[in-house]
Amino acid sequence: MDKVLILDFGSQYTQLIGRRVRELGVYAEILPGEAPLSAASLAGAKGIVLSGSPFSVYEPGAPVPHPSVYEAGLPVLGLCYGVQRVTYDSGGRVERLPEREYGRKPVRLSSLGPADPIFAGVPGEFASWMSHGDSIAAPAPGFEVLASSEGGIPAALRDSKRRLWGLQFHPEVSHCESGTRILGNFVLGICGAVPGWTMEAYLDELRAGLRAKVGSGDVLLLISGGVDSTVAGALLLKVLDPARVHLLYIDTGLMRKAESEEVMRNLRALGATHLHMAEAEEDFLSALAGVEEPEAKRKIIGDLFIKIQEREVARLGIPEAYLVQGTLYTDLIESGKGVGKKAQVIKSHHNVRSPLVEAKRAAGRVIEPLDRLYKDEVRALGRLLGVSEDVVRRHPFPGPGLGVRILGEVTKRKCDVLREADAVYLAELKARGLYDKIWQAFSVLLPVRSVGVAGDERKYGSVLALRAVVSEDGMTADVFPFDGTDLLAISAAITNKVPEIGRVVYDISSKPPATIEWE
Ligand code: XMP
Repeated sequence: MDKVLILDFGSQYTQLIGRRVRELGVYAEILPGEAPLSAASLAGAKGIVLSGSPFSVYEPGAPVPHPSVYEAGLPVLGLCYGVQRVTYDSGGRVERLPEREYGRKPVRLSSLGPADPIFAGVPGEFASWMSHGDSIAAPAPGFEVLASSEGGIPAALRDSKRRLWGLQFHPEVSHCESGTRILGNFVLGICGAVPGWTMEAYLDELRAGLRAKVGSGDVLLLISGGVDSTVAGALLLKVLDPARVHLLYIDTGLMRKAESEEVMRNLRALGATHLHMAEAEEDFLSALAGVEEPEAKRKIIGDLFIKIQEREVARLGIPEAYLVQGTLYTDLIESGKGVGKKAQVIKSHHNVRSPLVEAKRAAGRVIEPLDRLYKDEVRALGRLLGVSEDVVRRHPFPGPGLGVRILGEVTKRKCDVLREADAVYLAELKARGLYDKIWQAFSVLLPVRSVGVAGDERKYGSVLALRAVVSEDGMTADVFPFDGTDLLAISAAITNKVPEIGRVVYDISSKPPATIEWE
């Protein structure tokens, strides 16, 4: 299968480049920016993209591509830092601008631009997306300018002889007009990559890989009930002998309404036979009794989760089993400052380095079959495997569950009230066709009581905060812009159906500065 290699120099957009290439139907692989290209990486590679970076090319420690990148004989596209790097290393000049170019900036093609394959079908002037402090003051020998920004700064260059292209702007960002077209011109046109990245093809690869690795052995998957672990479960049940697939789910009592039953039902429908549910509500609630401090709550939940997990796994009596985790591509690749280093980022306490996971890893018995997929691809794989639409579209849910959505002390009563209110909220969103427009929506039970009237009586009720955000990956988030009428109706539905809630408020904070969760 053809692929495009993306060398990561630490840009916040590296993941996005990968996603855009895959949206063109071509497999994209992100590699550490400075590493030599191995024969395995080069197999099937049709082109190379150099990402941006928080570094300046002339800064000590700034990342430099390995010579094997230029020796591979493949077309190279440098984006932002990528093109500055190539310019600087080839004898051009890169300097800090008095004013940085940031945001939407018009770009105009030079007389050479329209005929260059990178701009095929692109208008002579378009709004690009810029984010750079340094600029190319003088292109390196051999380079020609294909486009410039308003201030006359080179925005696109090429060295036809060495088959190098460079863009100062970010075609991968959705605000960049013609961005997809330009990336497509590079990937499909200049590189000639044939789109072969389909979920069907990838499923075949996964099937062969899993069967070769596991053979007729046992596998154990820890199920959280979210999209990733359910899709991982569906995959194992589909490609391995279901009798060898052991699924373990821990009901912490901090789940949403009817969630545990739904998780069990969904997995049974997918053919699970060894489905174990550990009921641990009482353990969690008694450990949390009287605890108000958010970090203390998180730690108690995480530690107890690991303890119960160890106990339950030992009970299953399959010590040799492979441990399967639903880790995604985005969980594996460090963004930002960890320039070019692939490091494992801990997402949730399901993926925490528990002694169990560490021991399995040391024994080479951890399998992460989704670790080359983005979230939307996991959803597509789930659909292909017959996972229900309800699960596939499910919003993310934090490992500590309602424990971080009940501010202050967690009690069974509060969990029940929050579960009821949240169920009404989510049902209203679905009924109004809003659920799929929102990245994550949930309710938070506040530790304040406020006065209200019920009939002729003054009554103190709890305050519920609603959260709804749009986001690409949870790293940043914008508030979902509800129509006022929807919010009013949702509020009325909640207070009508959940008498304990006396007042509903809407959280209008974006991330940053706020986080998505409240604790
Ligand atoms: P924040 O609140 O940090 O959340 O803006 C970003 C995303 O991560 C989820 N989240 C968690 N997920 N364990 C998890 O598995 C956690 O401890 C945790 N804390 C936050 C949150 O729901 C959002 O999707």
